[in-house]
Amino acid sequence: MANPVKPTWPISNGLTPLEPGCVHIWSFHTSRPSKEVELLSKLLHPEEINRAMRMRSLEVREQAIVGRAVLRIFLAGYLGCEPQAISFASTGMGKPILANHKGLYFNLSHSHGLGLIGLSGSVEIGVDVEKVRFIENSLFLAERFFSPWESQTLSQQPGHEMQSVFFQAWTRKEAFLKANGHGLGFGLDRVEVSLGRNETPRIRLVDGCPDEARRWTILHLEPSKDFMGAAAFLTTQPIKSLTWHWDGKDNPKMM
Ligand SMILES: CC(C)(COP(=O)(O)OP(=O)(O)OC[C@H]1O[C@@H](n2cnc3c(N)ncnc32)[C@H](O)[C@@H]1OP(=O)(O)O)[C@@H](O)C(=O)NCCC(=O)NCCS
Repeated sequence: MANPVKPTWPISNGLTPLEPGCVHIWSFHTSRPSKEVELLSKLLHPEEINRAMRMRSLEVREQAIVGRAVLRIFLAGYLGCEPQAISFASTGMGKPILANHKGLYFNLSHSHGLGLIGLSGSVEIGVDVEKVRFIENSLFLAERFFSPWESQTLSQQPGHEMQSVFFQAWTRKEAFLKANGHGLGFGLDRVEVSLGRNETPRIRLVDGCPDEARRWTILHLEPSKDFMGAAAFLTTQPIKSLTWHWDGKDNPKMM
């Protein structure tokens, strides 16, 4: 059966070296037939499997397994090794990093069947993707998790854009918190981002860190029609971003 999530980006399995100033972002499907999930799970470390097995539903468990396995496949493709040879460590705040390699930055995100992997050879990176879905109380949630300026700006959006702008803001905040490794524990409301269809993506303010906002570049991503995403990079230099969808048929290889 065809996967209902239609990717926006061109399909490829060809890798090119990560030049300085360039980032590569790959989308992939995380909903896969059980047989494939089982094969992919063989690429994981037992600890990664155990962690996935503790998750609440089959869908989330499979998403975690596929996400980690595809991450291993891509890191191995860029580094020229086997996926099982990748060894992860994590920062003090829980951000996965490579245990034995310097100079390859990456981050993973998944939501409702779609995964994103962002890679950079020179700067710290964070990515986030969310399926744009109806949330009954989005303005109430915004009051809780967004800054007062963001909630007010959201409330002024045309009704038909409300949900996508909500997830646009959410993914910008989360991409930033994943790039600097803090994660959600820092507080989504402490990071203020630009929002609105035609606004340049950027971090406006970071509570308690006056110079932080201007150190980062934010990219707007729409990897599929119903998905909103963002990537954050620790640089103010222009960034060239290249985006592809990996269909999972052949392992990615250097061209
Ligand atoms: C990391 C976190 C931002 C993920 O959010 P999410 O929307 O559920 O998940 P996403 O699909 O976008 O990202 C998950 C991936 O991010 C990566 N990740 C995990 N912790 C991370 C961190 N601190 N920084 C950056 N990336 C992180 C992992 O690769 C993870 O997937 P994996 O565990 O399968 O490898 C969130 O779970 C978090 O902040 N955790 C830290 C604990 C915390 O602060 N909890 C308070 C919650 S209010």
